[in-house]
Amino acid sequence: MAALTTEQTVAVIGAGTMGAGIAQIAAAAGQPTLLFDVNPEAIERGIGQIDAGLKKQVARGKMSEEARSALLANIKPATQLEELSGSALVIEAILEDLQVKQRLFAELESLCGEQTLLATNTSSLSITAIAANLARPGNLVGMHFFNPAPIMKLVEVVSGVTTHPAVAETVYDTAARWGKHPVYAKSTPGFIVNRVARPFYAEGMRLLEEGAADVATLDSIIREAGGFRMGPFELMDLIGHDVNYAVTSTVYAGFYNDPRFLPSLIQKELVDGGLYGRKSGRGFYDYREGAIKASAIDAAACPAPETIEVTGDLGIAEPLIELWQQAGIRVKRTEGNGWIRIGHTRIALTDGRSATRRAAADHLPDTVLFDLALDYSSATRIALCAGDNTSAEALQQATGLFQALGKTVSVMADIPGMVVMRTVCTLANEAADTVFQQVCDVAGADTAMQSGVNYPLGPLAWAERIGLPQVLAVLENLRQAYGLDRYRISQLLRRKVEGGNRFYD
Ligand code: NAI
Repeated sequence: MAALTTEQTVAVIGAGTMGAGIAQIAAAAGQPTLLFDVNPEAIERGIGQIDAGLKKQVARGKMSEEARSALLANIKPATQLEELSGSALVIEAILEDLQVKQRLFAELESLCGEQTLLATNTSSLSITAIAANLARPGNLVGMHFFNPAPIMKLVEVVSGVTTHPAVAETVYDTAARWGKHPVYAKSTPGFIVNRVARPFYAEGMRLLEEGAADVATLDSIIREAGGFRMGPFELMDLIGHDVNYAVTSTVYAGFYNDPRFLPSLIQKELVDGGLYGRKSGRGFYDYREGAIKASAIDAAACPAPETIEVTGDLGIAEPLIELWQQAGIRVKRTEGNGWIRIGHTRIALTDGRSATRRAAADHLPDTVLFDLALDYSSATRIALCAGDNTSAEALQQATGLFQALGKTVSVMADIPGMVVMRTVCTLANEAADTVFQQVCDVAGADTAMQSGVNYPLGPLAWAERIGLPQVLAVLENLRQAYGLDRYRISQLLRRKVEGGNRFYD
């Protein structure tokens, strides 16, 4: 089956935040679009919301007046469900309640013919369960858009056990024709994005709980070294802790309390206290009037070393060498295990062990570790941590070394895996497991995270860039350090390393 043609009508049920956005997408693609809601005022509001957005685009010169009126002319309000009977595709975006959705689809099925495809925008309910009582369950598929729907490119096309593959294909092709980035997913808790993204929030909150650094510093490291658009704390404050905590709890319960998805006590405390984030005026940050915005703590200026010795290959951090040379630091290269020496000081990329543990293992007390960066040349910040027995002088030498590149340095506590490395490796591990369990394929997992939550790279592509053996080592070390099942390693990742293979062959 191919994508819908522009003669075919699309109906959207639920004219709220998501429904209005979805109707706008279909109408923009030239589809005659019906918008229905139990509440007629909601339809008016929905169309008003669409128009307000379009007017802004016209004002910014991003859309012509003709295009705006053509788009709006494609959207017709529907006051009775019966009016939807001739639609080729009905997309449901009503409240998140299994029974209410089941009743609606049963009614739709009795009104529409066999050729009408039924899609649900649910983000947490099983597609198989929504289709359970239908006479034609094969016609129902998940079509999961992301908020704001007109802007976010991702659409997860989610199949339940009974979904007909041709139905999923048509919806996939239609989403692609609408300019979206569709990916196939199997109906499992969280589908792709809401599952794979869990460590982004969870590891952030664990780092905070363990005193790695304050929220503003942790957010800055994730943004300025990791290349993510937002840090976990500012993002959770924006999403709302009630919403974010509910998603985590649903995924956790959905996987029968798999410790991998354990919700955070820190977040529960915020939810219980009504500190939902931006919308309530306070979350991890204080948004109330007059509040001073917390900012990252930066290391004081330290002198740059004149010479460093680089023993062996630095792996993903290798580009640093040229940067240091350009900054006028003399680099002496020798054989070795891939670290930097300044006198007695050893500076190395984190491998998932604490600096203290690594110092003890190698009998090098003056060990300082640095964190992963998305791109060492464009990163404006680097996180460092020193072991419990590391001298202040060693930490100053490492700080000066990175400051010599014009980078801001954040000194964090000695926490295994640091911030960016720990975040990226746990994201990649979850993505690998999602692929391993046949929820989606490798490209689907990466596309989902880039197009659904704006990650700078897909976690699996990123893991390859770091080196899969290095990612495996970080996860092994985290697992050993904490003894938690949360860091259990995906069999797929392990197999790729053991076979000397990659995700993208
Ligand atoms: P919303 O509360 O903004 O809008 C829901 C609309 O559905 C309301 O206008 C309501 O009057 C209408 N409605 C309720 N029951 C109805 C029924 N039986 N028949 C017709 N209309 C009915 O909700 P929102 O945020 O747009 O979410 C809608 C769906 O999309 C939910 O399933 C939600 O889980 C899902 N979703 C939400 C996202 C978000 O960020 N808000 C993201 C992705 C999915």
